Amino acid sequence: MSLETQTLPPKNASVKAAGDASLPRRTFAIISHPDAGKTTLTEKLLHAGGAVREAGEVRAKGDRRRAKSDWMAIEQQRGISVTSSVMTFEFDGIRFNLLDTPGHEDFSEDTYRTLTAVDCAVMVIDAAKGIESQTLKLFEVCRLRGIPIVTFINKIDREGVSPFELLDEIAEKLALDTAPMSWPIGMGGLFEGLYSFEHDCAFLAPQRGSGAGQTVEGIAPDSAELRSALTDSAAPLLEDLILAAEACPAFDREAFAAGDLTPVYFGSALKEIGVDHLLAALARYAPSPQPQPADPAPVQPDDDKVSGFIFKMQANMDPNHRDRIAFMRVCSGTLTRGMRLGNSRTGKAMGLHNPIFFLARDRAVVDEAQPGDIVGIPNHGTLRVGDTLSERSDLFFTGLPDFAPELLRRVRLEDPMKAKQMRRALIDLAEEGIARLFRPLLGSDWIVGVVGALQLQVIASRIEAEYGLSVGFDMVPYETARWIGAPDEASRKAFIARERASVAEDEDGALVFLARNAWQLQRLEEECPDLKFLAVKERQ
Ligand code: G4P
Repeated sequence: MSLETQTLPPKNASVKAAGDASLPRRTFAIISHPDAGKTTLTEKLLHAGGAVREAGEVRAKGDRRRAKSDWMAIEQQRGISVTSSVMTFEFDGIRFNLLDTPGHEDFSEDTYRTLTAVDCAVMVIDAAKGIESQTLKLFEVCRLRGIPIVTFINKIDREGVSPFELLDEIAEKLALDTAPMSWPIGMGGLFEGLYSFEHDCAFLAPQRGSGAGQTVEGIAPDSAELRSALTDSAAPLLEDLILAAEACPAFDREAFAAGDLTPVYFGSALKEIGVDHLLAALARYAPSPQPQPADPAPVQPDDDKVSGFIFKMQANMDPNHRDRIAFMRVCSGTLTRGMRLGNSRTGKAMGLHNPIFFLARDRAVVDEAQPGDIVGIPNHGTLRVGDTLSERSDLFFTGLPDFAPELLRRVRLEDPMKAKQMRRALIDLAEEGIARLFRPLLGSDWIVGVVGALQLQVIASRIEAEYGLSVGFDMVPYETARWIGAPDEASRKAFIARERASVAEDEDGALVFLARNAWQLQRLEEECPDLKFLAVKERQ
């Protein structure tokens, strides 16, 4: 019997139609540095979960979709994925919601917000490169929010760093305990197999590159049977496996749930080795939907009243209709189609007539969504990132961050007669969370703030494609922006009078200081001790 049939239902086991309210939910994201293999792993997880018929379908569909609009062509040219997407699949009696996140650092803000909507993350690490910068940043966000991490060390079919060194690196760089759940018997040219401590079985790679490989059940790391199944040159690798089995700490579920320990799986997404173990681990260990931070009190998933928050906005997913889709995480209650929910920011109610699930293969109309599910809500600008929708009037989800931009530019309109349209376009994009928009108190300029230079290109191409306007960006004498927190109206007014030339309002009307450099900011902080200069603003 193969490993697959022993531990998991076969790939083409019946996959129930989306919408089964009774299934437990697991909502997770994959975090990684670009090129570590996140897209490949996503495809293989969906394939293993039966959501796509052939691995490769996700990428193929993505390419077709990308070809449709200019700003998506940027993604294609740069080989990066700008947009987050949501995929749901059902496997082993569990509904999985997989939130994809852009890996490129310019879009980390979008990624951070997406991480506010998950209960668990899979951290993909390239076996040859170890922990890279973007992985580290994203991990820190997960830690901040106490999100448990399952680690997948990918590309063991290539030469890599020794598994012991990789585990040490995780422990040292991330201050995270590790529990290896599987162990590669060699990597790259020396790859002979993958041992699963969890299932006491070994996948044996095909000898001399031929055949499909086989799985041997009930075999011990120090058994003669395993030794005889491997080549002579695998002897030292086997010693490592025996040492790992004896010396490495066992998996501790509580420590995992607390975000203190990560189970580590080895594998190759490309060769579909170890992906089934990872999926089984998610089914078994990933937490069910967790309570969400909110004012006046955290929202429990078993609360009857429906509530959720918008963590992402995406425009023009369908180029034929100029629509926007707000991605909402359902936090409590059973959301049904046609339901009316109040928006805490505006105080207005809206009807959810066509909420959407994003399946790997298609969109589907949702009749019902449960806590942990993500729904897409089509709208024409009524919703914003950070909005709370609920049946309760007093509820605000908290903790969705806005980050201070690291690049500020003045927007230059080629045709000055179109100022009104440009204003609309900039406000639309700011509401989507693509850029911060600042209006200095003096003058009539618009200043956009972004996290990375690539975002500027996206903004220019979208304004051209969607609003027919040609815009450019000019340098400004500011390096960064800080939201101003004043204890009272008098100190707020005094600060404005003192620094009027460098004060602006953001798209929500919040007061912002545009700083020339870090030195100026530091001096102001010293001179105005009663004010706060905030690099992160929490959406209310
Ligand atoms: P990303 O989304 O994290 O950026 O990574 P992606 O899956 O696109 O993978 C990056 C590259 O690494 C791809 O190669 C992919 O085929 C390769 N890759 C992913 N998983 C594995 C693995 O387990 N083993 C090996 N050997 N390679 C792997 P590429 O040449 O850049 O793209 P492509 O032409 O293969 O699509």
